[in-house]
Amino acid sequence: MMRKAKISDVKEIQKIINSCAKNNEMLPRSLNQLYEQLQNFYVVEVKGKKVVGCCELFVTWEDLAEIKALAVAPSYRGKGYGVALVKKCILTAKQLGIRRVFALTFKPVFFKKLGFKVVPKDILPHKIWVECINCPLFPDCNEVPVIKKLT
Ligand SMILES: CC(C)(COP(=O)(O)OP(=O)(O)OC[C@H]1O[C@@H](n2cnc3c(N)ncnc32)[C@H](O)[C@@H]1OP(=O)(O)O)[C@@H](O)C(=O)NCCC(=O)NCCS
Repeated sequence: MMRKAKISDVKEIQKIINSCAKNNEMLPRSLNQLYEQLQNFYVVEVKGKKVVGCCELFVTWEDLAEIKALAVAPSYRGKGYGVALVKKCILTAKQLGIRRVFALTFKPVFFKKLGFKVVPKDILPHKIWVECINCPLFPDCNEVPVIKKLT
């Protein structure tokens, strides 16, 4: 089941994200970041009320939102949860009247299947790079910007 995240999900969300981060699949998140951004998060919950995946839609600007913090616990991958989470964020962005969504990802192939296109970094607004300067990988990071126009 897909639903908005609740406060009681935060520690599980952090566990999933930070274990992916340990495998260099994404960047880690602090509890502080997750509490502050909780209202942007969707989670997938399976039988037994276990949270096994998450994704965040973060509004960046008038015509742009970012899909962030996409993670599915390893033993639940390949079941369509990742795609469902991205589609839910896309739907929410459309409902908000946003025209484009983007992601910075190590998995451009996954996003290409969902209609995203790889774009040069410099077409995204400066604002989004502010987070990067505090990252341990800066400036040698392999994240690829991908973008999708919403119709
Ligand atoms: C990327 C991720 C969220 C995909 O979740 P998932 O639930 O396994 O994805 P789905 O089951 O919905 O997969 C759908 C499709 O994407 C493909 N796919 C899944 N993981 C992929 C990957 N790492 N690279 C390329 N394609 C991938 C699947 O093969 C499937 O394609 P198909 O339907 O043509 O067979 C998951 O692998 C993950 O959590 N990875 C670690 C964190 C990460 O990389 N996050 C994204 C960075 S922004």
